[in-house]
Order: sequence, then C-alpha cells, then structure tokens
Amino acid sequence: MHVESGVDAVPAIRVVDLHKRFGTLDVLRGVSFDVRRGDVVSMIGASGSGKSTLLRCINRLETPSSGEVYIDGEPMGHRGQGDAKARSLAEINMMRRDLGMVFQQFNLWPHMTVLGNVIEAPIRVRGMSRREATALGEECLARVHLEEKSKEYPARLSGGQQQRVAIARALAMRPKAMLFDEPTSSLDPELTDEVLVVMRELAADGTTMIVVTHEMGFAREASDRVLFLHNGLIEEEGPPSQVFGAPKSERCRQFLSKHVQ
Ligand SMILES: Nc1ncnc2c1ncn2[C@@H]1O[C@H](COP(=O)(O)OP(=O)(O)O)[C@@H](O)[C@H]1O
Ligand SMILES: [Mg+2]
Repeated sequence: MHVESGVDAVPAIRVVDLHKRFGTLDVLRGVSFDVRRGDVVSMIGASGSGKSTLLRCINRLETPSSGEVYIDGEPMGHRGQGDAKARSLAEINMMRRDLGMVFQQFNLWPHMTVLGNVIEAPIRVRGMSRREATALGEECLARVHLEEKSKEYPARLSGGQQQRVAIARALAMRPKAMLFDEPTSSLDPELTDEVLVVMRELAADGTTMIVVTHEMGFAREASDRVLFLHNGLIEEEGPPSQVFGAPKSERCRQFLSKHVQ
C-alpha cells in the first residue's frame, strides 16, 4: 500500500500518452496513468485489448510509437533533463533491471537448480559475489515459501512452484516495481491460489506492482487501483470498489458480468 513521503511526489512509474502501432494496427491509442510507490495496479480487459503490449512498452521489450514511460521520474526513451537524445540499448537494459517481469511462461533454466536460477542475474548482471547472491537468493526463496526447494531442479517442481521461483528470481534483482503478465493463466486452480497468496503478500509488503490478470478476486481485494483496457485505451479506472461496484462504462460492466462470478 501507498506510503506518503517527500520523494513520493515522483511516481514509481508514469505512462504518458503511450501509442503503439503494429503496421496499420493501432494497439495502444494514448494510454496515460501513474503508479505511486507501493501501489498495486491491476489491469483487466478482454484478450487483444493491448494489456501485454502496454507492459512490454513499459519495460521497453517493445518501443512505443509515441509517448513516454518514466521510472522514478527518469524517461525510458530519452536521456531527459533537456537531453532529447534516445537512450542506447545499454542504458535501456540498465533501466530495465529495475523492473521485475513475471510472465505466464516461467522460463526457468532447466539445467540450473532453483537457487541457481535466482542468483544468476544478481551475479552476472549486478556483479554480486556468489556468497552475497546466495544469501539474497535464499531470502527471496523464503518470500515465496520455497526455501526448502533451493537445491531442486525446475522440472521436479509443480507449475505453481516454478512460477514462485520466477517471482523470486525477479525479486532478487531488487526491482523498483514488479510487472506481472497473467502469471497464473497457465496454472490449475489449486496452483493458482499458491501463486496468488505470494502476490498478495508482496502487495501487503509495499511492493510496487502492475498486474495483468483475469483473477478478479485478486484485482478486487489486493489492488489499490484497477484499470480496464478496451481497444488500446483505458476505458475505466478507479479504486476496485468503484470499478467493480459501480462501473461507469457499459463495456466494463459487460466484461465484469462475464468474468466475475
Ligand atoms: N508484435 C506484434 N505484431 C503485430 N501485432 C501484435 C504484436 N503484438 C501484439 N499484437 C496485436 O496487438 C493486439 C493486442 O495484443 P496484446 O497486447 O497481446 O493484448 P492482450 O494482452 O490484452 O491480450 C492484438 O490484436 C495482437 O494481435
Ligand atoms: Mg496478454
């Protein structure tokens, strides 16, 4: 949850008039929103509405056609402070480290242990010693309740456990914010719950999060704000009580009537 303090005047993530076009297809058509430090923003909307593209533009896996994304006030696309020069790939990679990504697919390295997966980037990318990274990795595995699996290989874990390792791997980079793209969509219901428990704990611990999800219970109970995306625009946004309780948009009402039991 959001904590007031001086530096919080600058949002953790600011998205300004973001457009993304693929050929003639206008996928994002002017999306703007802020995520304050410690806030959890859930993003809902029909398949094809542009949710994944929006997350991918935020962490620069896609280059926006226009508009800008700011991380802690720093523009992703150009150098800022009056310098309109585009950032180099190296600079973008550096900034991307501050955003932990969790996808539907876990993408763990099969030949590495659970701990090996979690400490790889802190060692190679952050330059941490193996000893320091191991302590951090164990701490991150404890946060996802998998400390006892650290020496196991991914293939021997359930899908829910693998996704929790993927979350621990993202946390080990000590990101400024976590971006989740339908993290439970490939999981059976009982495995979904164990991942949602971990995500709720992260949310309660003050982790800044954007979560694309079809889990309406999570969106309703764990987020500070909900965005409903439709055809590349934010069609409805507000606190969950408002979006779920009294949506203004007819399309949002229809979407919710199909997705909320
Ligand atoms: N790399 C791409 N090239 C062309 N079209 C794309 C690409 N990525 C996404 N799209 C299109 O953009 C639209 C939005 O996709 P996406 O952001 O994945 O939506 P969502 O995550 O809400 O289901 C879809 O019509 C999809 O086919
Ligand atoms: Mg998607």
